[in-house]
Amino acid sequence: MTITIEKPQTLAGPVKLTREQLKQAQQETLDTPRMRYSLLAKLMFKPVDILYGKQGSFTKFAMLEIIARVPYQAWERMGYWAVHRHRSRSHLARRVFERIVEAREDQDNEQFHLLIMEDLVDRQGLKRNWLLHRAAPWAISFFYYHVSWLLFLVHPKSSYRLNAEFEDHAEHEYMTFVAENPDLEFVPDPGTYADEYGRYRSVADLMRQIGHDERVHKLDSLEKMAQPTVTGS
Ligand SMILES: [Fe+2]
Ligand SMILES: [Fe+2]
Repeated sequence: MTITIEKPQTLAGPVKLTREQLKQAQQETLDTPRMRYSLLAKLMFKPVDILYGKQGSFTKFAMLEIIARVPYQAWERMGYWAVHRHRSRSHLARRVFERIVEAREDQDNEQFHLLIMEDLVDRQGLKRNWLLHRAAPWAISFFYYHVSWLLFLVHPKSSYRLNAEFEDHAEHEYMTFVAENPDLEFVPDPGTYADEYGRYRSVADLMRQIGHDERVHKLDSLEKMAQPTVTGS
């Protein structure tokens, strides 16, 4: 039996930039100071730096992308609770559902980041071990997931703020990594996920695009801080 998977009509995730726009986006990030990270954010960044090194690397990014999906999963779960609670008020339920759809799209975008990083790790033959690359990401994700939904329950604005800090950290890590590794300009994008994520001239541009996605995620979360719940509760 042949199973045919239809290819998406448009590329998933935030807008894809041209080569010039990607370089400009990188410069903008490098010229912008990082956000002031909260204690909770530092509680996640610190162990990651200790376990995987302060410098960026493909294995460290793969690990970060595992935990990047977590708050979107937590918000999706909270959204379904809210839809159920407001199911008799169709206007409100629809607006909550729109937030769920956004959370799912961002999860998918983070999933492609993870798949791309995993592919780059494999292509470079980089070694990974069970403790650092299975157990530790699971433990940090577990902590982050519960912090995200609990925060959303008691103070939704703080949940979005925490994600904005995480995304700001990711944006700066990617753009700095590209700046510190100019040889990546000469490594062609393998294009493993070109149908879904686009094809770039080099791995440097591919990573700049991912860094720009993180900026879009950050800006979305900062915007949602103004209206953290559509129900106003
Ligand atoms: Fe990401
Ligand atoms: Fe992100």
